[in-house]
Amino acid sequence: MLLTSYRLGNLTLPNRLVMAPMTRARAVDGKPTAETATYYAQRATAGLIVTEGVHPNAVGQAGPSMPGVHDDAQVEAWRVVTDAVHANGGRIFAQLMHGGRIGHVDVAGHHPVGPSAIAAGTDVFTPSGMAPAPVPRALTTAEVVEQVQAFGDAARRAVDAGFDGVELHGANGYLIQQFLSSSANERTDRYGGAGRVRFAVEAVEAAVDAIGADRVGIRLSPGGEIQGIVEEDVPALYGSLLKALPDIAYVHVLATTDDETLMGLRKAWPTAFVLNPGGQIGPVESTQEQGERWLANGADLISYGRAYLGNPDLVERFRLGLPLVSTERETWFSAPSGYVDYPSYQH
Ligand SMILES: Cc1cc2nc3c(=O)[nH]c(=O)nc-3n(C[C@H](O)[C@H](O)[C@H](O)COP(=O)(O)O)c2cc1C
Repeated sequence: MLLTSYRLGNLTLPNRLVMAPMTRARAVDGKPTAETATYYAQRATAGLIVTEGVHPNAVGQAGPSMPGVHDDAQVEAWRVVTDAVHANGGRIFAQLMHGGRIGHVDVAGHHPVGPSAIAAGTDVFTPSGMAPAPVPRALTTAEVVEQVQAFGDAARRAVDAGFDGVELHGANGYLIQQFLSSSANERTDRYGGAGRVRFAVEAVEAAVDAIGADRVGIRLSPGGEIQGIVEEDVPALYGSLLKALPDIAYVHVLATTDDETLMGLRKAWPTAFVLNPGGQIGPVESTQEQGERWLANGADLISYGRAYLGNPDLVERFRLGLPLVSTERETWFSAPSGYVDYPSYQH
């Protein structure tokens, strides 16, 4: 099943493997480099590539050496990446990741913002190492609307840069999930309380207005509790979110809750359901077996993160049952090696 094709929006994917979004922290001045183009082009046999988190505006930058897609120079730099992937026959979405309260003034001179003035209680990356996450400045209602629009503007720029679409990062404790979570969102305006799903919905709508529903997806980690997130009544919260979302190309769900809840979300969602078995960097990397099991259980596509770091030809390795290379955590972010130096399998 993993190796069968799938129609996603206007794209025909040759297989059902998605390269999961992975921050690599190797951008220079907020822009991807020639190496970034090589890295993604090496992985172009994936049914779909979703890039590392890319900030939709300057205040959304979560950490050092992360790329953005909010100015002309960034768009031009991403164009080199999307051209390289397309030249190798691939398809690529940009993951729009707004850090919200996950960020630090030392990263790019912007104090982080969030739904409420509540710190994440974890550490964040800064140019001089890890530091406690600061208390974010709570956005006014008018500023929330501006952050919503940033997703629409960034989606437009992503398509200008040659991306086939965008995935909004609604998982892992970044801005969109901060709005969803009662532990990070104590607002009393229309974005709080029963309106906690509103920010996610409006951000998706802004992207849809900019580039069309068939080019938009959203990533979610129902029940996921990293970066200070606490979630209660997960089936009800995410059920109401899925109901309120327009029929976009896909939802990309991490296995951060029990199988029954995941299956319920699958059934409640009308278009493509992408599942990431490994969750939030769980103890075990997603496997081929898990992928096949989830496809049999109703998922349409399976995303692989860590397996894609060391195995650019993951599709071929799955096809032929070839051994997988695993990677060292020290090379995941901002390291001189471990990026473009993993070859395809040498027969
Ligand atoms: C180095 C690294 C960076 C990651 N960065 C992101 C990111 O930018 N956005 C995101 O949604 N998930 C990110 N993740 C999570 C992965 O997309 C994926 O959910 C996780 O690794 C579990 O899947 P796996 O078992 O297939 O690796 C990252 C994971 C790793 C290992």
